[in-house]
Amino acid sequence: MAAGSTVSFVGRLLFALLFLSSGAQKLQSFNVTTGGPVMSLMAPKMDTFLGHIKDITHIDIPLEKEHYVLLLGAAIFLELAGAALFLANYSAGAYMLLLFTASVTPVIHNWWDIKDQNAQLVELIMFFKNIALVGALLFYLGGQARRLRID
Ligand SMILES: *[C@@H]1O[C@H](CO)[C@@H](O)[C@H](O)[C@H]1NC(C)=O
Repeated sequence: MAAGSTVSFVGRLLFALLFLSSGAQKLQSFNVTTGGPVMSLMAPKMDTFLGHIKDITHIDIPLEKEHYVLLLGAAIFLELAGAALFLANYSAGAYMLLLFTASVTPVIHNWWDIKDQNAQLVELIMFFKNIALVGALLFYLGGQARRLRID
């Protein structure tokens, strides 16, 4: 039982490290007015994504550049707080990482928009790795729910 919980902890640690490191990187370069260097990647991707939403649904989501900074701040919070809570084995952390990954992935890893074949392949791989992360989080949450029923 003790060995099992060590294995589980190491598993959560390895999983959380991805989010902790990328969240810490974004936080360190975060600028309250501009969002920082990450915004030069995020803003055009957001524009493209909202353009698709508008094409498909005919709904024009009124998001301005200032809102992008707020969204980036919220994403960094979800990523860091979610990873810390997940590491401590709280389901809330898994829900936060799920929300983060599921909302960021189609915006940032939009392989369907990329013409260059190599760049497209990279985003395609990132996209499906993130889908696998969502799957792992669902697997974790399913296990937690089952454990609560058994307890
Ligand atoms: C944020 O960026 C603006 C514009 O580049 C700059 O003037 C400001 O000093 C930066 N703020 C911080 C806290 O780095």
